[in-house]
Amino acid sequence: MRDTAFVEAATAGAAARLSVNRMRLTNFRCYTAAAFDGDERPVVLTGPNGAGKTNMLEAVSFLAPGRGLRQARLIDVDRRDGGTEWAVAATVAAAGNPVEIGTGRDNTTPRRVVRINGAPASGQGALAEYVSIVWLTPQMDRLFLDGASARRRFLDRLIFGFDAEHASRISAYEHAMRERARLLKLGRQDDTWLSALEETMASRGVAIAAARREMAGRLARACAEGLGPFPRAGIAATGHVEDWLDDGPALAAEDRLRQRLAESRSEDAETGRTAIGPHRSDFAVRHLEKDMLAEQCSTGEQKALLIAVVLADARLQAAERGVAPLLLLDEVVAHLDAGKRRALFEEVRTLGVQAWLTGTDRLLFDDLESYAQFYTVADATLRHAA
Ligand SMILES: Nc1ncnc2c1ncn2[C@@H]1O[C@H](COP(=O)(O)OP(=O)(O)OP(=O)(O)O)[C@@H](O)[C@H]1O
Ligand SMILES: [Mg+2]
Repeated sequence: MRDTAFVEAATAGAAARLSVNRMRLTNFRCYTAAAFDGDERPVVLTGPNGAGKTNMLEAVSFLAPGRGLRQARLIDVDRRDGGTEWAVAATVAAAGNPVEIGTGRDNTTPRRVVRINGAPASGQGALAEYVSIVWLTPQMDRLFLDGASARRRFLDRLIFGFDAEHASRISAYEHAMRERARLLKLGRQDDTWLSALEETMASRGVAIAAARREMAGRLARACAEGLGPFPRAGIAATGHVEDWLDDGPALAAEDRLRQRLAESRSEDAETGRTAIGPHRSDFAVRHLEKDMLAEQCSTGEQKALLIAVVLADARLQAAERGVAPLLLLDEVVAHLDAGKRRALFEEVRTLGVQAWLTGTDRLLFDDLESYAQFYTVADATLRHAA
């Protein structure tokens, strides 16, 4: 039953709600076929380990550009034991306007195919116009401890929610970087070709660093305010190019990157790596009250910092774009103390986001009873829970 008070409260906010209202999975991981018929409220999925909860969230994550919340290869998503060519079809609504999205693997192309309102889209990038998703998964518990690449990906994904061009800048930069590395490995001193690639790397690279720096600045302002029991977080995008942008204009940074790339050709040929550029940047988070880097904080504190960042991002998207993103929170609730759990639920309610929350213990979600929809997942079957 829908709680009208909640619906009114949620729709009274300035931001429109983005929601998945219907979804069909075919040969998707453990699901031969699964159907979700819901509404715009938050979704709670509970069930035992190995039931298919994370797989369901992964299916939702494919409604946005990218490789989904597991960073999977397309082929790994095929249902083992016979299933091929997986598909996810969904009705997504923003501000009451429904959009039909279909996506999946199709044997005719190595890319993930996307259809929007029945028509083939030129690429996954088209999804960014309709759907923005932010997620937290148990794998991200090590985000502050492991290498910088996962942190860069995390920040980049937050940027996609505001700037769909960011993804194409990154792929253009990476393509040029790989091509340059290939030439250097072959020992080809083709100056014209190398210079052209370095030109692309310089212009795209500075644009990438500028977008990260700008996003980090906005997040820093949003996170400095704090949210109930969640820690206030200090946030910065760090790296050579980011430093240059602190010192001077973007054009000067481009010149500098172009020059440094040209100078490092022989070193890069030897190491097989690219010594300088935004592919080496990082995303630094601090616990402000404790004045400590996130990696020095306790496991629970790190998780709370990450949740604070994700909620700040959702608030920014709601304020600046008028639509809050979908939030996929896999096994987040089980790790929170009661105060933080309540604050998280309250924020989900205030923002009016369709959060998808998973856990093994239904009791932990009791406070959401009146304004979420509950489903159980068992043996790769999704059921609406009364
Ligand atoms: N490509 C695939 N084909 C078939 N089954 C798969 C595939 N990929 C994963 N699985 C299986 O899907 C099942 C459900 O996985 P999932 O990660 O969704 O479980 P979960 O409900 O999130 O469990 P947990 O509570 O342990 O996190 C697992 O048994 C897993 O082995
Ligand atoms: Mg799981």
